[in-house]
Amino acid sequence: SVAQSNNAALSSVIRKKLMGYVGFANLPNQVHRKSVRKGFQFTVMVVGESGLGKSTLVNTLFNTPLYPAKEVLPPSAERASTVAIESIGADIEENGVRLHLNVVDTPGFGDFVNNDDSWRPIVENIESRFDSYLEQENRVNRQKIMDNRVHACLYFIQPTGHSLKQLDIEFMRRLHTKVNLIPVIAKADTLTDEEIADFKARILADIAHNKIHIFQAPTYENEDEEAIAEAEEIASKIPFAVVGSDQVVRTADGRDVRGRSYPWGVIEVDNEEHCDFVKLRQMLIRTYMEELREHTNNVLYENWRTQKLLSMGVAQDSSVFREINPAARMQEERILHEAKLSKMEAEMKMVFQQKVQEKESKLKQSEEELYARHREMKEALERQKADLEDKKRRIESGRPLTPEKGAVSISRLLLAVISDGNY
Ligand code: GTP
Repeated sequence: SVAQSNNAALSSVIRKKLMGYVGFANLPNQVHRKSVRKGFQFTVMVVGESGLGKSTLVNTLFNTPLYPAKEVLPPSAERASTVAIESIGADIEENGVRLHLNVVDTPGFGDFVNNDDSWRPIVENIESRFDSYLEQENRVNRQKIMDNRVHACLYFIQPTGHSLKQLDIEFMRRLHTKVNLIPVIAKADTLTDEEIADFKARILADIAHNKIHIFQAPTYENEDEEAIAEAEEIASKIPFAVVGSDQVVRTADGRDVRGRSYPWGVIEVDNEEHCDFVKLRQMLIRTYMEELREHTNNVLYENWRTQKLLSMGVAQDSSVFREINPAARMQEERILHEAKLSKMEAEMKMVFQQKVQEKESKLKQSEEELYARHREMKEALERQKADLEDKKRRIESGRPLTPEKGAVSISRLLLAVISDGNY
């Protein structure tokens, strides 16, 4: 599973060699061959206060040094005064499956004296990615759409062992309708097993209390037992308590593993007894990468698009805004036009449906009429038949027919025979 790619790298993209098993070659089990051939675009955003091990974990997840070695800035060095957004792209390949991976980092988040607005640049970044996708969708030529939308957001929680901080809650509340949130407890090796269990329970309670939606693995009916068990196993570990390391260390029993070495022993990243890293990787890369992409497209993006169209409809009245900004005006007009078209389409569909319904009820009515007529005729025939049988029985039993009917018909018969002149 070593990357071998012969395509020329995009200018902003670095080509990376995998150092070992990552797991996205499993994707063919999740999606159609076509998208496998074309390759995947997948964007992960990492958010959390600085020093929580975000870059280390990303390097560990994708088993490749995506992040270049960082020089640690001395405290006196100048730092940006807002949250910056940085994006790293890499083309990685495993067993012939190509993945265009984008990692969006948000240095500066939560690093200031006042972090009230730390979430804002992040929301703006996510929305501008939606904007760019919408713009591509509206193009005449929609062949080559670059999907740079954020498919998953790893939110790093400081391993305090207490509960969520206001900053965490605020961020998740602002973001949960725009991105698949995956909370992780950073540097879980600094907490004991018991502390982790308590911390997880408190985090989940906080999340539920604040009505925050985090990404949930979907459960399907008719799924085989193994898949259901796996989904439950993954879900039970959320928020994942992770440990990251891009170092290989030697354990007491002489194995070389990815981990962190302490005087009392080695914490192994890939050992499920030691942390939830394996489960996080399973969720993000092996089992639910396609679900994350689908949920982003079908729910998060779609909701945002609807909201956007609605707000554009309202903005129609602000003529000042339209005059100042011709590009915005054109965009607005196009969106309105599209909304009009889809309204017309909906109306036409409704009219069509109505017509079909009318026709159907007419057909039903004439069918009923036919039935009624059929019934009437059948009844008349049955009455005649009964009459005739009655007559037959009387004739056979030698009894005279009823005078008014029988007499008349016999005298008529005689008359007819006589007047015929055959005698
Ligand atoms: P910024 O780039 O400043 O936002 O930091 P970051 O969140 O990317 O953290 P980074 O990966 O640079 O790690 C910061 C420090 O934490 C480094 O010294 C890492 O070796 C250490 N570190 C990373 N992951 C872990 C972990 O899981 N456990 C422990 N104990 N330390 C870790």
